[in-house]
Amino acid sequence: MLKMVGVETFYGKIKALHGVSLGVEEGQLVCILGANGAGKTTILKTICGITEPEYGTIHFNDVQINHKDPEEIIELGISHVPENRRIFPELTVYENLLMGGFLIKDKELFVERYEKVTNYFPILSKRASQQAGTLSGGEQQMLAIARALMLDPKLLLLDEPSLGLSPKLVQEIFSIIKDLHQSGVTILLVEQNVNHALKIADYGYVLTSGKIFLSGTYDELYEEEKVREMYLGEGKYVRRASLWRS
Ligand SMILES: Nc1ncnc2c1ncn2[C@@H]1O[C@H](COP(=O)(O)OP(=O)(O)OP(=O)(O)O)[C@@H](O)[C@H]1O
Ligand SMILES: [Mg+2]
Repeated sequence: MLKMVGVETFYGKIKALHGVSLGVEEGQLVCILGANGAGKTTILKTICGITEPEYGTIHFNDVQINHKDPEEIIELGISHVPENRRIFPELTVYENLLMGGFLIKDKELFVERYEKVTNYFPILSKRASQQAGTLSGGEQQMLAIARALMLDPKLLLLDEPSLGLSPKLVQEIFSIIKDLHQSGVTILLVEQNVNHALKIADYGYVLTSGKIFLSGTYDELYEEEKVREMYLGEGKYVRRASLWRS
């Protein structure tokens, strides 16, 4: 469904992605793991057209998308839940979902989607008229995911959905992501919460300094001593995970 080959993305003269190749098959939940600054967000921004790669290609269902505008990429069926949620705090929950469904012209279809999405997140229909900025962190994350689901995307890109949430809410968000995946949504998930992410993912890529360092299933990655030690909370390197950046 999604295929990135040899992608290099720059910020000015700084190269953030060094020839990244990865794939997501329809129905899969794939995660990208990596420390701060590894380039995880850049991968998602490059897929959804916010930043254009200098080299390499990205295909989505056989359509080359690496020179397309973000709007065209959304219309092809890719929705992005950015880092730090980025909901519209001044608008109500309902208005945020309305914004998420901006491409839906048919009112009945909008209502159908609204109901489907709020079925996943019942709290959002209870809070429909509440200003989104006054929601709790976990509720804001649910709203950000719900907003992206309004377009019934073929591929959902999630950037660190568990960031800044309490352990209980982290559990809840991962269980929602798992449910979404089981209901057939294809997901590319970026996470630092490796243990949780790998447990629900079909496949994982480990990114370090803009390069894919390792890839595999949970079992395969678990076999890698470095992953276990640095990301799964075992061994002597746990407190030195940041060293993995270089
Ligand atoms: N707008 C920008 N201008 C210049 N450099 C940038 C910009 N955005 C990101 N970078 C740099 O690109 C590299 C990759 O950043 P990116 O945000 O993709 O990392 P990340 O893996 O998502 O990190 P985090 O876990 O902290 O979110 C970093 O070195 C970062 O400083
Ligand atoms: Mg990031």
